Amino acid sequence: MTFDIDMIKKVYERYPSRVEAARKAVGKPLTLAEKILYTHLWEGDATQSFERGNSYVDFAPDRVAMQDATAQMALLQFMQAGKPKVAVPSTVHADHLIQARVGAEADLQEGINKNSEVFNFLSSVCDKYGIGFWKPGAGIIHQVVLENYAFPGGMMIGTDSHTVNAGGLGMVAIGVGGADAVDVMAGMPWELKMPKLIGIKLTGKLSGWTSAKDIILKVAGILTVKGGTGCIVEYFGEGAQSLSATGKGTICNMGAEIGATTSTFGYDDSMRRYLSATGRKDIVDAADQIADHLTGDAEVYANPEQYFDQVIEINLDVLSPHLNGPFTPDLATPVADFHEKAVANGWPIEVEWALIGSCTNSSYEDLSRAASIVEDAFAKGVKPRAILGINPGSEQVKFTAERDGFLDSFRKFESARIFTNACGPCIGQWDREGSEKGEKNSIIHSFNRNFAKRADGNPNTHAFVASPEMVAAVAIAGRLDFNPITDTLTNAAGEQIKLDEPKGFELPAKGFDVGDNGYQAPSDDGSSVQIAVSPDSGRLQLLTPFEPWDGENISGAKVLIKAFGKCTTDHISMAGPWLKYRGHLDNISNNMLIGAINAYNMETNTVKNALNGTYGEVPAVARAYKAAGIPTIVVGDQNYGEGSSREHAAMEPRHLGVKAVLVKSFARIHETNLKKQGMLGLTFANEADYDKIQEDDTVNFLDLDQFAPGKTLTLEFLHADGSKDLIVTNHTYNAQQIDWFRAGSALNLIAAEAAR
Ligand code: F3S
Repeated sequence: MTFDIDMIKKVYERYPSRVEAARKAVGKPLTLAEKILYTHLWEGDATQSFERGNSYVDFAPDRVAMQDATAQMALLQFMQAGKPKVAVPSTVHADHLIQARVGAEADLQEGINKNSEVFNFLSSVCDKYGIGFWKPGAGIIHQVVLENYAFPGGMMIGTDSHTVNAGGLGMVAIGVGGADAVDVMAGMPWELKMPKLIGIKLTGKLSGWTSAKDIILKVAGILTVKGGTGCIVEYFGEGAQSLSATGKGTICNMGAEIGATTSTFGYDDSMRRYLSATGRKDIVDAADQIADHLTGDAEVYANPEQYFDQVIEINLDVLSPHLNGPFTPDLATPVADFHEKAVANGWPIEVEWALIGSCTNSSYEDLSRAASIVEDAFAKGVKPRAILGINPGSEQVKFTAERDGFLDSFRKFESARIFTNACGPCIGQWDREGSEKGEKNSIIHSFNRNFAKRADGNPNTHAFVASPEMVAAVAIAGRLDFNPITDTLTNAAGEQIKLDEPKGFELPAKGFDVGDNGYQAPSDDGSSVQIAVSPDSGRLQLLTPFEPWDGENISGAKVLIKAFGKCTTDHISMAGPWLKYRGHLDNISNNMLIGAINAYNMETNTVKNALNGTYGEVPAVARAYKAAGIPTIVVGDQNYGEGSSREHAAMEPRHLGVKAVLVKSFARIHETNLKKQGMLGLTFANEADYDKIQEDDTVNFLDLDQFAPGKTLTLEFLHADGSKDLIVTNHTYNAQQIDWFRAGSALNLIAAEAAR
């Protein structure tokens, strides 16, 4: 058994009293999102109401999920915490590192060969610390989590933005950075700003060509890529109850595309059916005991405007299939309007590739509905035009779909390629023949993201997102503007035929089946498991604890860079080709701040080295200062560190000798990450002081030895002409965070406590 029923029962036991306490604290009926959040407070029973969109709250999530790219640094850090085991059930999924090229078997073997060092590392760390490991080929993190771990009313964090997929089974599941995962695995609270709430009422019922995917494609069109920021989206209404659990998963999955913190649905019969079909009847029995608590209060859904910050209503009776794109998932076009819009915008109408699958849309229901379109087309003598690729979400789905003949349906496309159960083309792990030519072309897929270059690296590939059944229809027609509701196709006999509406199965009539599901359970006692990392490895490097603070004022520091304007975590630690160094702090540090603009010459990656007066690349200059024993500071503008919660953006400067980051304002997650890594994150008391800092300045801290909560710190900037400025800075460190700074990092402190 992969899921932990005892843990789930414990969560459910505390629901009645905690929901009651929350109702009292909040003073009104509760949404489902609030019930889940308030039952997972770190402090236990709610004693106060938290202001949505404002209060920072400590939570105790039930689970952690990590994918192979982000797990590397998370686990390297966890190893430093000095804990024998993870504090909550956790899993790692090997899905991002396998490239799609010719087909599942060969691609998987090639992926294993290329990444064996990383996979072996992840496997042994999981074994040692009590973490479940899903081997390469087992499936995509979110599909595997939905099939095995998600449960109604649970709270989970995961080191991937589409962790939110688990909302399909009524969870609050949130994508985070590795540092947050480390906190929870090490038994620390996890902090989140109390989200605002968007209620989406679904009326009517899906029919014909319209699917669950079209609901979220429509929602994306309404809310845009930013509309859900800082919010939990809660779906309710008769339309919600009519959807399958995996359909709900698809909708929640793409909540990431509207920037939502997460999305969720109340516990209902579709979840009962899915849990039972995936071998988790135990959870149904336990959830049924507290079913009223696993959905929003009736009064909330009767008068949603009073309880949600925003309410949207969508009538499924009139919803039509959509195609969203290109280049952004919120550019929503109903199929009937597509031709006109495509012509007006010069989008290539002919479609070369059609892809079905990913964590978003690879359920049994999805595959069966798409397969029915292909069968119908072939029965009517239509020859498909586009190339079809399938990347199933899990071995269980693939095995069952194979048994029931759906993959054979897809194989009727001469060109069909069944890829590994892994992310593949969805994350640019797609060796698409000819993409290097950069030609303008269109593809259609049932994935979630369609930003330029995401699938095949070609900036001129116009990617459109649609439901699996629409992808199948478009693949057959070879044209993006094919509207299966009204249009006909010409078959081999020259006759005009119409495709039948998709028919599928929510769940397999004969049940799910699988040979080897690819799960590796951890050892009960992992204390003797050795973790091998070669000192010569280019991809992995064991971490050395950062030095504790010596108690002295920092003096004689140089300004490594004064960043001008926007400086996101991408500017601080770029992605792309650097992904392969995610587990090697020293190597990935060679991308530190290479995207930031130097305010003194308005160039990127060219800063002055005060040791010799020459200009060099930021990481190289930082290394030169570090080697010479000279501390450095980084100066920045507004909202420094916005973007992702990537902890590398804080670890790299720490590794290369940066002691403090002084900015006009911080993105909060990055500020917290700096604190966790034992750095000083400071803001100008007077923003105009940013302009006083000069390229050749020498910086002295005057009162760091009196570092205390709420007390300013003063820095002296000695200019090359002999003059100086005193600059007063603010900080938001509380007493515990100051202890992190003193210890050298939060992990050093945890390790010291664990050793006691
Ligand atoms: Fe993988 Fe794409 Fe999902 S990268 S986790 S299949 S969004």
